Amino acid sequence: MFKISMVADLHHFSETLADGGQAYHLRESSDQKCLMESGAIIDSAFEKIAASDCDLVVIAGDMSNDGEVVCHNEVREKMIKLAQKKKTFVIFSTHDWCCDGHSRRYEGDQIFYDVPTMTAPELREFYKDFGENDAYDTYINEIGAASYAVKLDGVRFIGLNDDKSGTGGAGYCDEHFEWILRQVKDAKANGEVVIIMEHHLVVPNISLLINGGQVIKERIERSEALADAGVDFIIVGHSHMQRTTTYTSANGNSFTQINVGALCGHPSPIVNLTIDEDEFTIDVDHIDKFTYHGVEHTREYTTEHTKDLLLGILKAGMNDKEEFLLRVNSIDQNFNLDGKYYKLISKLVKYLMKMTVGKAGRIINFLTFGKGVNRKAVKQIKKDNLVEHIINIYLSVFDGSAKKYDVTDPVYIIVKDVASLPARISKVLPVKALKKEKIQKIFVQIQEIAEELTNPSLPDNQHAVIKRK
Ligand SMILES: [Fe+2]
Ligand SMILES: [Fe+2]
Repeated sequence: MFKISMVADLHHFSETLADGGQAYHLRESSDQKCLMESGAIIDSAFEKIAASDCDLVVIAGDMSNDGEVVCHNEVREKMIKLAQKKKTFVIFSTHDWCCDGHSRRYEGDQIFYDVPTMTAPELREFYKDFGENDAYDTYINEIGAASYAVKLDGVRFIGLNDDKSGTGGAGYCDEHFEWILRQVKDAKANGEVVIIMEHHLVVPNISLLINGGQVIKERIERSEALADAGVDFIIVGHSHMQRTTTYTSANGNSFTQINVGALCGHPSPIVNLTIDEDEFTIDVDHIDKFTYHGVEHTREYTTEHTKDLLLGILKAGMNDKEEFLLRVNSIDQNFNLDGKYYKLISKLVKYLMKMTVGKAGRIINFLTFGKGVNRKAVKQIKKDNLVEHIINIYLSVFDGSAKKYDVTDPVYIIVKDVASLPARISKVLPVKALKKEKIQKIFVQIQEIAEELTNPSLPDNQHAVIKRK
């Protein structure tokens, strides 16, 4: 038996980079990630992992907020402590070498872009003790990052940097990919389990509309080759969504992609993969609690923060004029919403927040001549608050907890009906543009998202047992 604990997207943010003023407030309220609290969350996760029975810890990239030297220094200190108890492998990725070159610090209502960052070759040296030094072979890619392969007990671990594909975007040039396949084939010839870790997705989880920009280039070609070469697991991060997905090639060979959600945001997962003689078990665990500035918080804290990304502006829209204008006007430099409209906006937001499924259904059916949503289904949950249903589905995008509704369940029927509305309307409207293939494809993807979030495909995102090949 061999057990691996995985975390991803730590996005450690040093508290030295912000004073909690207005500029920081606007930054953190527009992000799913908990920034100032990230150090405390990482400590909590590492303590739990250090006390567990796992044999190896792997971290799937985005260790730092935006590649800041100070963030890397602090997070590596935590890793050094963890590595005293558990062997720890990492890969680094775009947020670790600051691909946008705009690392920021926040003082009062001002943002300063003068924070020193690290380059990919510097990071390679910096994190060498966490994987590369255990490797029997490495490949250095065009940004100077190392992909590395390690032989463990019956397991071949291949940590990859996928930040450059050769044709732009995330992925691998052909030479790099050939190196990967060589390691996989060698491991399979030795009867080993092959585990790859990269940052970006190989397989989109929910739909291309949501994950399309998060997958590597030439994803189908690469997935086919990896499955046929015999890869068992691909651990990825980046999407901040917890998902387990199986990819099966045209030749019938499969691998499982474990997309580990972000540690610094809801649901703060620690994912465990147990390798037994005849099966693999994937279990999603989480941090229990964390202590930030002497105050203990449960995991709900990160959930509330993620909810606030959606609800914060609405709540301010109901009864906090100053906060509402601050948030809205910070979305874009060109925005300058006048406070005189606040009363009207506040009324509308209050109406929306109180809206029941029954009322929303009636409005949709009024606008669509009774053909929008199934009346019987709406009636069954007519008193339910609409926003609460939307929030539950929204959270499940991040935590993979999407409930499998029965096809007769009113929630399933209503979501399916609403998701199919754009496609249905486009058929009857005499607008040529709506008939275009590109738009129709988007409409189909909207329906796929609805299906995946109310009738998720297997394997289960929280607990899965997979037979060994
Ligand atoms: Fe990330
Ligand atoms: Fe990322």
